[in-house]
Amino acid sequence: MKLFSPLRVGTMELPNRVVVPAMVTRLSGQDGFVNGPITDRYVRFARGGAGLVVVEAMAVHGSKSGPLLRISGDEFLPGLRDLAARMHDAGPGRCAPQIIHFLKISRTGWRQKVQDLSIDEVRAIPGLYAAAAARAVAAGFDAVELHMAHAYTLSSFLSRLNGRRDDYGGSLERRLRLPLETLAAVRAAVGPNFPVGVRFDGEECVKGGYTAQEAGVIALRLAQGGADWLSISAGGKFEDAQHRPGEPLYPYTGYSGERCMPGRQYPPAANLPTAAAIKAFVAGHGLSTPVVATGKIHTPELAEGILNDGKADLIGMARPLLADPDWPRKVQAGRFDRVVRCCYANVCKAKDERFQTVTCFLWPRGSINAPESTDAQPPQWPQSGANLVAETSQGRISLKWAAASDNEGVYGYDVWRAEGSAPFERIDAVPGAVCAYHDGTAVGGLGYRYYVAAYDFAGNRSAPSAAIEAQL
Ligand SMILES: Cc1cc2nc3c(=O)[nH]c(=O)nc-3n(C[C@H](O)[C@H](O)[C@H](O)COP(=O)(O)O)c2cc1C
Repeated sequence: MKLFSPLRVGTMELPNRVVVPAMVTRLSGQDGFVNGPITDRYVRFARGGAGLVVVEAMAVHGSKSGPLLRISGDEFLPGLRDLAARMHDAGPGRCAPQIIHFLKISRTGWRQKVQDLSIDEVRAIPGLYAAAAARAVAAGFDAVELHMAHAYTLSSFLSRLNGRRDDYGGSLERRLRLPLETLAAVRAAVGPNFPVGVRFDGEECVKGGYTAQEAGVIALRLAQGGADWLSISAGGKFEDAQHRPGEPLYPYTGYSGERCMPGRQYPPAANLPTAAAIKAFVAGHGLSTPVVATGKIHTPELAEGILNDGKADLIGMARPLLADPDWPRKVQAGRFDRVVRCCYANVCKAKDERFQTVTCFLWPRGSINAPESTDAQPPQWPQSGANLVAETSQGRISLKWAAASDNEGVYGYDVWRAEGSAPFERIDAVPGAVCAYHDGTAVGGLGYRYYVAAYDFAGNRSAPSAAIEAQL
C-alpha cells in the first residue's frame, strides 16, 4: 500500500504516510512540564507505528493557560528530551512538537485580539517561536510544527478577520507577514536541514473568513518560505465560539469547531476538498511540499484512495488513533478487522473543553491510555446466541442483545446496518458494558438490517450476530 511507503519530508524520511496530528491530552499540569502520563501516551502512539507523531501544542511563551505543555524555557528541556528519546525507542516513526503562541482570554468572555497587540509585542513573536524551535532541536525531536491554525495568534494574523491597520493586517500580503517572519526566524534558528512544518486552516469556517481559495495562496507562500510540510486543518475559531458564563471561551463550541473535529453527522473525509485544492494549487506552482489531509479519514481504503488520487501526501488521523494507536501496525499487517474504530462521538473534544484528561469514550472506564493486548482469542456469544432484537419507539429503532464474554474482557460492540439491499456499514460503537443501541438516524419507508459484533482489548471480533430486519 502507498500508505505504508516511505516519504521524504525535508531532510527526514518518514517510514509511512500515517500522521498523528497534534492532540492536546490535558495530562500536563499548569506547570507545563512533561510527566509520566504524557510520556506514556506518546510512547503508545509511537509504538503503534505511525510515520510521524506530532506532540500536542506546547506554548512558546509564558502566558497563563489551563493544563498545557510548554517549551518556553530551557527548564522544560530535560522532560522534552526524555520524551523524544522514549518515542524514538518505542517505534519506527519520527516525532515533532507542535509549538503555539496564543493570546489572552478571560472567564468574562473577553479575548485579546491581534489588533490589541502593540507593534513591539507583534515583533517579539517570531523570536519566541525561534527560541522554542531551537529547544525542539536541542531536545532531540526530528522536526517541529508551527501552529498557525484555529483560534491562535498566527492563525488570527492570517485570518480575513484580522483587524490590524498597520503592515500586519488588511491585505493578504500583510496578513501573511507575521507568519512568514516567524517561519524565517525559525528557519534561521534551526538551520537549513531541520524539518519545519506548518499547520494552518484550509478554511476558517466562520462568516467572512477565508476559504480554500486564499488558503492555496497562503500554502504557496509558506512553502516558498521554507515550510517542509503543510498540515491542513479547518475552523476552530473564537469568532463563533459560544461563551458559557464564568468559563473562558473555547474555540471549538461553534460551527467552526465542528468543522475542526467533525462529529458523527459529517461525511468521511469531511475537509478533504480543501486539502486537495491546496495541494493542487501548490503543485500547480511547481512545488511538491507534502500536504497532510486530516478530518474523519479512518479506513485504509479511504486513506489509500486519497494518496493514489494525489489529493494529499500524508494522512492525519487524530481521533481514530486516539481510539486505537495500533491502527498503523494492525493495518500494515492486513488486520483492519482488529482496529478499534472511532465513532466520532467527540467525548475527547468535550473533555478537552473542560480541561479534563482527554480520553476516548470507547476505552474502558478509568483508563488514561488505550488498552493493549496480544491475545488472539475472540469474544464469544452465549450458547443461545446474541439474541439481537429490535423495537421501535420514539421514532427510533432500538437494538438489544445478550452480552458476549471474553477471556480478557469485552471491550465494546460495533453496530452494523444495511439499508435495503445495500451492503452493511458500521454505523457506531458502544462500550462493552452496554448491550443496547438506539438508531436515531433510521427513517420510515426504508427497510434496515442490523447486526452487532463484540471486540476485545486486542480488537479480535466475535462472529457477527445473526442479522435482523427492522422498519419504522
Ligand atoms: C482532543 C483534541 C485535541 C486537539 N488538539 C489539537 C492541537 O493541540 N493542535 C492542533 O493543531 N489540532 C488539535 N486537534 C485537532 C486534530 O489534530 C484534528 O485535526 C481533528 O481532530 C480532526 O481530525 P480527526 O477526524 O482525524 O480526529 C485536537 C483534536 C482533538 C479531538
